[in-house]
Amino acid sequence: MERTLVLLKPDAVQRRIVGRIISRFEDKGLKIVGMKLMKVTQQLAERHYEEHREKPFFSELVSFITSSPIVAMVVEGPGAIEEVRKLMGKTNPRDAAPGTIRGDFGLSITMNLVHGSDSPASAAQEIPIFFSEGEILEYSTADAPWLGG
Ligand code: RTP
Ligand code: MG
Repeated sequence: MERTLVLLKPDAVQRRIVGRIISRFEDKGLKIVGMKLMKVTQQLAERHYEEHREKPFFSELVSFITSSPIVAMVVEGPGAIEEVRKLMGKTNPRDAAPGTIRGDFGLSITMNLVHGSDSPASAAQEIPIFFSEGEILEYSTADAPWLGG
């Protein structure tokens, strides 16, 4: 089953809306198979945002993600990567549609609450940066037959 890396960024933790954001994923029928509260180090941030190293906003991005704890999650389900991206909404919360996480909760392009892997290749690269194999759990849920996929 498809898996994606989700990060609830420092603003989500500071604003105490972690539970409400996680509910969006649970409500959709996606399954949490890994989750932890953690501080992102400079080294981890630079590795995670490697593709943006040359962008003008890189240092702002790294300093934000390392500024306060985040919640890191591995989320699983049919088409999990794309489904999470749809639930998140566009990168800039001011362009994100109402009903999406960024559209409902944010205004800042830097403090945009949530990260989700943007492709199967990104998910495969990002998940092991944040989680060891033993931190990802395989289990079934009672409602699985009613969720399709
Ligand atoms: P994410 O990686 O966090 O899930 O966000 P994303 O795919 O929607 O956006 P991406 O292009 O990967 O950019 C990563 C993060 O960089 C910040 N950003 N700032 N100032 C700017 O023009 C700008 N553009 C992007 C955002 O915080 C974005 O989440
Ligand atoms: Mg991205």
